[in-house]
Amino acid sequence: MFAKEVYWQRRKMLREELGDGIILIPGNEESSMNYRANTYHFRQDSSFLYFFGIDKPGFYGVCDVDNDKDTLYGNDSDIDDIIWMGEQPAVSDLAARVGIDSSASLKELGDVLKQALKSGRKVHLLPPYRGDHMVALAELMGVDYEGVKNLVSQELIAAVVKLRSIKDLSEIREIEKAVDVASIMHTTAMKMAYPGNYERELAGAIEGIALSHGGPVSFPVILSMDGQTLHNHYHGNELREGRMVVCDAGAETAMCYASDITRTFPVGGKFSTQQSDIYNIVLKANTETIKASIPGRTYREVHLMAARIIAGGLKELGLMKGDLDEAVAAGAHALFFPHGLGHMLGLDVHDMEGLGENNVGYSESLKRSEQFGTAYLRLGRELEPGFVITNEPGCYFIPALIDQWKGEHKHAQFINYDQVEKYRGLGGVRIEDDVLITDAGSKVLGTPIPKTVDEVEETMKV
Ligand code: GLY
Repeated sequence: MFAKEVYWQRRKMLREELGDGIILIPGNEESSMNYRANTYHFRQDSSFLYFFGIDKPGFYGVCDVDNDKDTLYGNDSDIDDIIWMGEQPAVSDLAARVGIDSSASLKELGDVLKQALKSGRKVHLLPPYRGDHMVALAELMGVDYEGVKNLVSQELIAAVVKLRSIKDLSEIREIEKAVDVASIMHTTAMKMAYPGNYERELAGAIEGIALSHGGPVSFPVILSMDGQTLHNHYHGNELREGRMVVCDAGAETAMCYASDITRTFPVGGKFSTQQSDIYNIVLKANTETIKASIPGRTYREVHLMAARIIAGGLKELGLMKGDLDEAVAAGAHALFFPHGLGHMLGLDVHDMEGLGENNVGYSESLKRSEQFGTAYLRLGRELEPGFVITNEPGCYFIPALIDQWKGEHKHAQFINYDQVEKYRGLGGVRIEDDVLITDAGSKVLGTPIPKTVDEVEETMKV
């Protein structure tokens, strides 16, 4: 937990952003796997963590904008809780740890909310993303699910996005810790990527590393020789010489800040010429666009620059042809780079995605593209100092997509389909770093993780 002044200040700024009413931020509850008492790892709601700091289930935070007052609601533990979970701090003690001098039970929260709605006060909610939130909120406020949805407040979403988008120094330090753990995860996976090992052995080892450093992985490990499947969670393949492993994985710190790193490495420790040709194109897209990520530039421009670099590299290899600007404007590059360059990173690995991707990544003046490929760009808007973002260009050979486009002669003026066939079985390459936007430009966070062909091969030497 940060110092209580941090949470106090964040709530004060939040209240100041809203005109009037009551802000209600529910914390998460335990979530069951296969029967009620067998629960998943508990994950607190990130906005609740940001403003109320308490990493335990069963709490609600209220900021009363009209009366400049914050209250923590929750029930004190009873003897059964103490028997099974040990001594638990009182709700009032937890409140004091985050700078709140007012606390009350959940029954009282229900009364306060019902009274507020009855008297016509505005109750501001963030979009609920768990079914149990909907049920609990409807019950607390005595409304139906439509009634809960009607309280979702665009004003509150905008205020939370504004505050959480700019990371302060202590948050940046947390993210760097998470990147440092990811560095150990990725170099371990590289060293294990030898023929005869199974993907699941690498995935299990790196998940264990995250756990042994105090947090879980920040999202389910993506690790596969079939890296052309962008989010591949199947880890059942035996590693074979001649293939590359795409490993996209990060850790969460004990304070729930995330890292999100991708490295691609050759099974057996040596890239083939064809693999390193594609790898170096993606590497150039990664390094050049990190340099180009500066305040005032939109991330969509940076994304399109990555697309241009990838298309340029593929043209040199004979896979693309024609005018590169026209090819990128038409979206021809998306056969090979069908996703976005990156997203915000923070308490969520896709930071604040629960508040709506467009609310986080786009603005009144910049709307999301509808073109295949660029439409998947999660963050398009102008970069600001204090943003932490991912930079993750990739180049993939997706047989089903190649067949579909080739069958339709799609962008045939820009794509040499005969040449593409020679790369059909290559899989994919993705390289991802976590990047802070600074006043002067940008900075890759954390311990450098082997990234060039030489660095990766050197790391993999046994
Ligand atoms: N690294 C996984 C993702 O960005 O979705």
